[in-house]
Amino acid sequence: MTTRPLVEVVPAAAFGEHVAGLLADRLAARPGLVVALPTGSTPLSVYEALPGVLRRRGMDAATATVVLLDEYLGLSAGHRARCDEVLGRALLDGLEAAGLRRPPFLAFEVDEVGAEAACARMEAAIDAAGGLDLVVLGLGANGHVGMNEPGSAADARTRVVELAPSTRDAAVGYGATEPPTHGVTLGMATILAAREIWLLATGARKCAILSATLDDPLTPDVPASLLRRHPGLRVIADDAAAP
Ligand code: PGA
Repeated sequence: MTTRPLVEVVPAAAFGEHVAGLLADRLAARPGLVVALPTGSTPLSVYEALPGVLRRRGMDAATATVVLLDEYLGLSAGHRARCDEVLGRALLDGLEAAGLRRPPFLAFEVDEVGAEAACARMEAAIDAAGGLDLVVLGLGANGHVGMNEPGSAADARTRVVELAPSTRDAAVGYGATEPPTHGVTLGMATILAAREIWLLATGARKCAILSATLDDPLTPDVPASLLRRHPGLRVIADDAAAP
């Protein structure tokens, strides 16, 4: 039995500041926060707002640990479409530009040890950090979270995955010339083991999938629906995505 999670609806223009404020609250409450963060377009307004929010509150994020949610395979180190590069530019560089220190960053070590070993290392690094306090997710239009594509089971750990066509196309939009076919992602079980999960959804094109995520039966066909098993799930949507 699962209950419908509470959905916080925020005007689109205020979304970034609102979620950045919530993140700052978490950092204030737990300076050693271990937080997994996504790329994609959904969180960009949050990352843009966060340095300013922290500065205004006289805070820094340097004692937190940032964990990368997922990564494409087949793009060379430093490629601008890689998730580690995107998060670096969107958030870590932004913190530095605002005069704040960069927090430690756990990326997948795919170049160093290969994809499979990088997944095992990521799980071990999360354990060594004391587990994930918070996972922030952007809801994918096909119901994926991270690169847990439709068909991903609730017990799936961090692993190599084949990407759905829409996820491949998105990589091209971020600057990959050849669409990557595979990626590595924190698994559903890894995400569900976090103390808290925030699912973000913005824009009218997420309205139907957000509705399915919240109200349809739990199913691996909509991996985001599986998050409803977690008592610490918080759904934050802008007014265009809210069903
Ligand atoms: P978006 O996608 O944030 O670029 O809309 C989310 C996702 O597909 O993970």
